[in-house]
Amino acid sequence: MRKVNPFTPSAGVEPPSLIGRDDVLYDFEESLLAGVGSPARLMRITGPRGSGKTVLLNELGEIARKHSWKVVDETVHQAWVEDLCRRLTKEDRIDASFEVDLKLIHASVKKSSDGQTLDIRDALDSVVTPLTKKGKGLLVTIDEVQNASKEDVNRIAVAVQHLIREKKNIAFAFAGITSGVNSLLAEGGPTFLRRAYLEELKEIPIDEVAASLGETIRQNGLEIRETELMRAAEATAGYAYLVQLVGYNVWRTAARRNEGSVVSPEDVETGISNAMAEYDRAVLETAIAGIGKMALRYLLAMAEDRRVSSTSDIARRLGVASTSLSSARSQLIERQIIEPTAYGYVAFAIPFVREYLRKNRAQLLARFGIEESSPVP
Ligand SMILES: Nc1ncnc2c1ncn2[C@@H]1O[C@H](COP(=O)(O)OP(=O)(O)OP(=O)(O)O)[C@@H](O)[C@H]1O
Ligand SMILES: [Mg+2]
Repeated sequence: MRKVNPFTPSAGVEPPSLIGRDDVLYDFEESLLAGVGSPARLMRITGPRGSGKTVLLNELGEIARKHSWKVVDETVHQAWVEDLCRRLTKEDRIDASFEVDLKLIHASVKKSSDGQTLDIRDALDSVVTPLTKKGKGLLVTIDEVQNASKEDVNRIAVAVQHLIREKKNIAFAFAGITSGVNSLLAEGGPTFLRRAYLEELKEIPIDEVAASLGETIRQNGLEIRETELMRAAEATAGYAYLVQLVGYNVWRTAARRNEGSVVSPEDVETGISNAMAEYDRAVLETAIAGIGKMALRYLLAMAEDRRVSSTSDIARRLGVASTSLSSARSQLIERQIIEPTAYGYVAFAIPFVREYLRKNRAQLLARFGIEESSPVP
């Protein structure tokens, strides 16, 4: 019988096994049981693209549902707060099993002064109050929060703080790209988000990746030896998306060969190289496409460093004043390719950008029409 590939290299798709999230899931579940004021009821999840933020939000939702909480998921877009209000108060959004009195909800939701937009505090209150009375609660998840304005997050903050003070069962989980969320929290940003339970999705330890890859592969009908397993796990650098991409391609290569059921060293090498090619194409090339010439030079100058780069070193390498690089730097930060790490320092915000830039330097310069030796304009 044909074996189905168990790996899920797609955005927001639940992986065959969720690696490295036991602690945060435990703390979140505990917070639902512990009651109002429990820190993990307000959660801030940060990490680079593809680190598993959306999947983690989904998982928090599963836990909340298991405890009969209502869950509303929102992704930041234009007028997301208004949409959230509307969805909270829409009849078909309310799960009948909660037996919430809809008349009560509609009566308690006031229109704001312009008569159009609903007030977020009232909208949340209208759902959370009847749920709290029944010993249940409401979880709201907000994805891509780095795209939100400080004003909108502050509106939510005020509403949530009031509800918490009124001892309502409400939980909020925000997820976004680390640098974007940090700048949202900087001056004038909501202090409540700064104080939220922080789950930063850093690299998953390689031994946990190996154990999980091995289990998934074996449970689905193939065998793999420890040496091959470690090689595959190391290639992922503990990065969630690559765990799935490497797993998927190693599996695919071995399953297609159709000779026995043991993953060979060649399968692992071919799988890794296909996974990395797909990663370069889907993530790195997409990130770099359309940046300016100066931004590309900036990236190539950064690639000479091993970890963080000092902005003055970058300027020196390019032979220009630091100030003339500020727009290239902002463009790269805005596109979430790099992030400021401290005053005067930047780092790559996506795994393997450095390796990609080093490997493809000549080709990138040619593609952007830059002569290697030409002075920076
Ligand atoms: N804990 C995990 N263990 C293994 N694989 C995971 C884990 N979390 C997520 N993944 C996988 O990683 C990939 C990316 O997950 P997800 O879409 O949640 O990332 P993200 O951080 O939301 O990315 P983006 O910033 O692009 O929205 C998916 O293929 C998913 O199946
Ligand atoms: Mg996501």
